[in-house]
Amino acid sequence: MSSDSQSSTDADLPSETPVGVKLGSTRTVVSTPDDLERTLTCLATYEDALTGEERVLYGEEAAVEYPDRVRYMLRSGLPEDDDNAEDAATFFEAFMEANGVPAESGVVYAVPTIDNEEGIANLESVIESSSVGESLVRAYPESLCGAVPAFDGLDAVDSIFLSINLGSTNLEACAYRRGEQLAPFATGGVTGNEVDRRIVAYVEEETQGRVKVDITTAREYKEDHADFENFEPFTDVIQQPGGGAHEFTIEDSVMDAVDEYLDEVVEAVANDFLPELANDYMKVYQLALDERIVLTGGMACIPGLVEEFQRRLSEELQRDVEATAADRPDLAAAEGAQRIAEQLLLHQG
Ligand SMILES: Nc1ncnc2c1ncn2[C@@H]1O[C@H](COP(=O)(O)OP(=O)(O)OP(=O)(O)O)[C@@H](O)[C@H]1O
Ligand SMILES: [Mg+2]
Repeated sequence: MSSDSQSSTDADLPSETPVGVKLGSTRTVVSTPDDLERTLTCLATYEDALTGEERVLYGEEAAVEYPDRVRYMLRSGLPEDDDNAEDAATFFEAFMEANGVPAESGVVYAVPTIDNEEGIANLESVIESSSVGESLVRAYPESLCGAVPAFDGLDAVDSIFLSINLGSTNLEACAYRRGEQLAPFATGGVTGNEVDRRIVAYVEEETQGRVKVDITTAREYKEDHADFENFEPFTDVIQQPGGGAHEFTIEDSVMDAVDEYLDEVVEAVANDFLPELANDYMKVYQLALDERIVLTGGMACIPGLVEEFQRRLSEELQRDVEATAADRPDLAAAEGAQRIAEQLLLHQG
């Protein structure tokens, strides 16, 4: 691909790559035509032992090798101040480079539905100032991007439905009317991170104080074992500081925590979000409840959660509602963003 700028014939059209990106407080996902990659949204820097230059590590490698100084730079999916914006820019550039995303690309990135102008402006400048997205850069709501793969093609952008994003630091809900966001609702009180904190506390209780897991282990328990259909008790081993190992079995801690979480999701949706929507847009509320409610975000990956949400919300509202999700709700926002990018590049011609 070493064509120089002098040969500017029509045959020389740039090959613009459609790229979808979701930056999250816990995980960032990029979707390109050949690849779908996810990483932890964190960064560590160290000094090159030979040259003294600053080097950057990101993702799992940074979290595992530098737990003492790894930095997570997003809150509610947004860089809240200049330092975090700078870290986010460094992280984003490194992640794009590692995935071979070319400068000649059209980038659609997912933004959370959070009322934080400064944070959203920071996120925008992180993406706009990066080396990718020369052809176009556009932002779309995360819960719309995440709903796209749950529909055919780009039908989500042309429908009326409710979308609920279950993230690590936020629960977000809104109605979409052909891409327009109505009655946006968000709370930091019902979150994947809170589930992890509860698992830490419940494991300690369940083991009569013998086992204190850290928050990362709690998250792994949740991601590997939480299951509303077929939960199986599991065992783990901790090394005692004085030597020796202690094996223990977890029967209740994980499912108690996710069970409470799901009750709180249903309560927030039924008692906070839906009444607001009904109040402001009664007809849209009625139309949307006849459609499938789309769940997005990593917490929707828990097996059986979507069906259980549907059952509990139907009971709470005393009417039947249907819920659905993309195959991989944790990756869906980036996949959907990429589909949108493809379409925008086509239109741009
Ligand atoms: N397979 C899985 N099973 C259970 N939980 C999961 C799974 N994958 C991810 N999660 C959980 O989902 C949450 C992350 O979801 P997501 O990636 O949508 O959030 P985020 O975008 O990083 O955060 P936020 O939206 O708050 O900025 C975390 O709590 C994570 O532990
Ligand atoms: Mg998110």
